Amino acid sequence: MAIQRTFSIIKPDATKRNLTGAIAAKLEAAGLRIIAQKRIHLTKAQAGVFYEVHKERPFYDELCEFMASEPIVVQVLEGEDAIAKNREVMGATNPAEAADGTIRKEYALSIGENSVHGSDAEETAAVEIAYFFSGLELVG
Ligand code: PPS
Repeated sequence: MAIQRTFSIIKPDATKRNLTGAIAAKLEAAGLRIIAQKRIHLTKAQAGVFYEVHKERPFYDELCEFMASEPIVVQVLEGEDAIAKNREVMGATNPAEAADGTIRKEYALSIGENSVHGSDAEETAAVEIAYFFSGLELVG
């Protein structure tokens, strides 16, 4: 499998509880290299653009409100099979269904406040990375 890049967010529920380092450590232990990282505070409108694909879903407004409620940490992760590897270490969207040892099993509070986001495919990873980072910020 080729080396891939994926986009990751440490969400407000996690930054608020000082879990940035613990989550980054789990990503690194899984073999993912953090090649870019910054802490930002989104506006609700910026979160709305990021999650536009979900705009018809009933939780869209709540999700955007939550993502703008506190700072987040955005990251670009690089590694072999990085997209699938990241989603494996994240665990299922709903923490009640997440496997033992995953980030969401250990830290997520609910299906909304679920501590991390990770791209689901190469095309979305490219779009999501470009929304937050310039090419010069990716230091592989
Ligand atoms: S996935 O991983 O895209 O298949 O999951 P999905 O269920 O489609 O959810 C997409 C994102 O919406 C968030 N979500 C919610 N937020 C608030 N309330 C409710 N009920 C809710 N259900 C899902 C979920 O955390 C996903 O966020 P991201 O950042 O994409 O992981």
